[in-house]
Amino acid sequence: DAPAPLAGKHVLITAGPTHEPIDPVRYIANRSSGKQGFAIAGALARLGARVTLVAGPVALPTPLGVTRVDVETAREMAAAVDAALPADAAVMVAAVADWRAKGAAPQKIKKDGSGGTPTLRLAENPDILATLAKGDRRPRLVIGFAAETEQVIDHATAKRARKGADWIVANDVSGDVMGGDANTIHIVTADGVESWEKLPKDAVADRLATRIADALD
Ligand code: C5P
Repeated sequence: DAPAPLAGKHVLITAGPTHEPIDPVRYIANRSSGKQGFAIAGALARLGARVTLVAGPVALPTPLGVTRVDVETAREMAAAVDAALPADAAVMVAAVADWRAKGAAPQKIKKDGSGGTPTLRLAENPDILATLAKGDRRPRLVIGFAAETEQVIDHATAKRARKGADWIVANDVSGDVMGGDANTIHIVTADGVESWEKLPKDAVADRLATRIADALD
């Protein structure tokens, strides 16, 4: 038998949303299901990679052969990514919350009965992808995702430069992609844009894993 294409390679993946606490019972979140990231983790493992999947709060089974690290917040995700290095490639699929509540309340915030509303102050979260791509333990291949609702390619191209990623996988989330089972993606690289037809998320994952194996070869 030929050796598996990704044998001996370590690939780091982030997936799912993050939850940013407001108080012990409330949080800021987003609609990421984690499906695409989990599918990519499974596909890479099937190609023989050692896969570390840093997952935000999602109710999905761990793909076969994948080492999963569960986190809740963006800052926990950043620390778990750092702890998983070094890696040959990183695929940052997580929909990391851009902001967290500044100084989450230690106790449940109560209505005071006067009809007054609390003010939520926000602080910016670390950009995990940009930190990794610009850091001194940068994986050889760094891939980011871009969920956009308009000007998908333009925004992805700008994001690639801004974040220092090798590839940005852009998808149009103006429809029912989030939580759905199919995805239409465009891969923006230094060489240009490659657009794939609408595919089930599992098929996107298999094809992307093969593309990653070719790039690391
Ligand atoms: O800037 P935007 O959130 O659109 O960028 C998306 C890409 O950046 C994804 O690959 C996502 O996983 C990554 N990201 C990150 N840390 C953040 C925000 C985004 O790693 N705080």
